[in-house]
Amino acid sequence: MFELLEKLCMTPAPSGCEKQIRELIEKEISPYVDSVETDVMGNLIAHKKGNGKKLMFAAHMDEIGVVATCHGEKGQVHIAALGGVDPYASLYQRVRFLNGVEAVLAPDGKADILKTLKMQQLYADVGAKTEEEAKALVPVGEAGVFVGEYTEQNGCIRSKALDDRFGCFVLIETIKRMTKQENDLYFVFTVSEELGLRGAKTAVYNVEPDYAVVLDVTRTGDVPSEDKKALELKKGAIIKVMDRGFIAHSVVRERMVELCEKNGIDYQMGVLTQGATDAGAIHLFGGGVPSGVIAVPTRYIHTPGETVAQSDIENVLALTLAIAEEGIL
Ligand code: CO
Ligand code: ZN
Repeated sequence: MFELLEKLCMTPAPSGCEKQIRELIEKEISPYVDSVETDVMGNLIAHKKGNGKKLMFAAHMDEIGVVATCHGEKGQVHIAALGGVDPYASLYQRVRFLNGVEAVLAPDGKADILKTLKMQQLYADVGAKTEEEAKALVPVGEAGVFVGEYTEQNGCIRSKALDDRFGCFVLIETIKRMTKQENDLYFVFTVSEELGLRGAKTAVYNVEPDYAVVLDVTRTGDVPSEDKKALELKKGAIIKVMDRGFIAHSVVRERMVELCEKNGIDYQMGVLTQGATDAGAIHLFGGGVPSGVIAVPTRYIHTPGETVAQSDIENVLALTLAIAEEGIL
């Protein structure tokens, strides 16, 4: 069942370079929807015609990464972050540029810079000896993603880019499995979420939904490195109450709880003060769009070791499928 998730996670798509993942998703969903189109920004918008109010599901296709900014005389490829990348989590990690060149992110100095390390103090070591050689391998503007193998162990999945290929996976599976619907349904795969919810801001104009449901990852409170919160791995789908950019609309949130109770789906309520999702942009469109977020509890977000539980993904999928089939009326 998770083979498709692996394929999605391993397809490189840093913000602004979503072509490859968009083509993969389009191929997967085309036979199951009435229409599918790519808008000006690159968002993929699929329509499953129905009666009733317009319900828009959204998951972002992009992942965090790096981009080459300039070159050093010793063959360094200097970089900047694409999205919220932690420099300490990036230290000595491998990245792969979209042209296939691989590198290690190394600190551009000795111990003193490690105390207040910034992403721009890391350079990509591509094994070049001169500036010319480095330029030829990775030109300015070339983007790359972290290297992080997809593995399954003890009921958990560990991979780079589970943020938000997990959400893309859940929407694709929902499209494939659903057998009835109560709403006019749109499934939107957005671009550049990691740079500030940019794709969602324009996609919502093209759909003009009455309701929106966003799928994304959410931090847990079950590791010492995170703020205290009542969210754990293997405890079920997260129904978000709030995050830094959004408060869930009661109509959508209560409908989610109702469908979990009715269908025996495990869930936990998510109250967060950090983090944001595409819902932060979508719910502010026009006169406002009642919106909700379904999330999978995730450890070590924005690192190559993002970790989720298979059972949590199954619960998220069950809830998403229930909303698609039974609707928000
Ligand atoms: Co993210
Ligand atoms: Zn995300």
